[in-house]
Amino acid sequence: DIEFEVKYGLDGVAVAISSISCVDGEKGKLVYRGFEIEDLIQNSNFEETAYLIWFGSLPNENELDFLISMLSKKRELPNQIIEMMKLFPKNSHPMEVLRSVVSMLGMYSKKENSTFENAINLTAKIPTIIAYWYRIRNDLPLIKPKESLKHSENFLYMMFGKIPEHFNLFDKALILHEEQGMNASTFASTVTASTLSDIYSIITTAIGTLKGPLHGGANEKVLKMFDEIGSIENVEFYINNLIEKKEKIMGFGHRIYKTYDPRAKILKNWIKEIFINNNIKYFEIALKVEEIVVNKFKDKKIYPNVDFYSGILYNYFGIPKEFFTPIFAMARIVGWTAHAMEYCKNNRIFRPKAIYNGPKNLKYKEVKGVE
Ligand code: CMC
Repeated sequence: DIEFEVKYGLDGVAVAISSISCVDGEKGKLVYRGFEIEDLIQNSNFEETAYLIWFGSLPNENELDFLISMLSKKRELPNQIIEMMKLFPKNSHPMEVLRSVVSMLGMYSKKENSTFENAINLTAKIPTIIAYWYRIRNDLPLIKPKESLKHSENFLYMMFGKIPEHFNLFDKALILHEEQGMNASTFASTVTASTLSDIYSIITTAIGTLKGPLHGGANEKVLKMFDEIGSIENVEFYINNLIEKKEKIMGFGHRIYKTYDPRAKILKNWIKEIFINNNIKYFEIALKVEEIVVNKFKDKKIYPNVDFYSGILYNYFGIPKEFFTPIFAMARIVGWTAHAMEYCKNNRIFRPKAIYNGPKNLKYKEVKGVE
């Protein structure tokens, strides 16, 4: 039975040995290089966690300063690229812009740069691409990056010209998104890396894969769903209707987590805390959606994933929903590049097979043109 030989979606298939992160789907645990995610969000920040993911251990003060300074010096985009961005159609989705500009940056990179230098270069520039596109499409003057600001502070500053209250939660949300094992975009980019292609091609692949609504694109769709629901009274009708039509409910389910996604739990707790004083938008609707879906799908073990709650937090900072998935990319580039570099140490090109079930033994016959 050929169906047996095929692992659709590579479900349960291991394609690498990795020391970068451990995702325990039964216990709902996420560990980067031996450190539990709860510990990292409590005590670390984006740059330090990036160092940990890339190099395998926490940096000392000098090492961290060095990384921070490298990242902060590489933020600006080449002028020609900024000018080209101004010519892009204004309705282009930020993920389309990100995918295209990352690809273009490959043409502006120094050919002699190491893979790691290119990884730093892109990690530094992605927030600038996102913020510049936000300003360009809204006809706002560009805000240049400020070297003295940390990675996430600088991003919010380039978007809005100020650093909002609770900005540290934004930084911690980036930590949550930095790495997640062999997910679809990491796998796709590892495939590109395995052909010994360059880092710009690797990350362009990853961004294109993350964009899909079954992966990173889900965070935008979740907010769209909340908007369509509109009010708490409408939740039950709306969700039951989706279930009846057998449609996927965005922000729920996961290939690995068969319990609550630890990242969703963390985000939910932060939002709960802010909500007490600020009546944070969408939260009550979200809680009701969660209650109905978790109850309905108890047997299938479907729980909220990271994309269910992240958008509520980003919306609180004034970030429009089309920019949610780019923010995911801004963090996940760390995991993408770490996996690409790790895989290439013991590289073997990815070349799986498909089982042919088409026709055989046909004989060529010239198709006569119609007079
Ligand atoms: N809504 C309704 N039913 C669902 C959902 C959902 N969100 N997720 C899974 N199911 C059903 C699925 O149809 C299947 O039913 P059946 O056994 O009757 O065919 C059953 O649950 C088991 O599904 P699965 O095999 O665990 O799902 P999968 O591993 O193939 O897909 C997924 C994982 C994330 C693509 C899927 O859960 C989904 O489409 N979720 C909605 C999109 C989403 O939120 N994506 C974000 C994923 S997490 C962060 C990220 O990667 O960006």
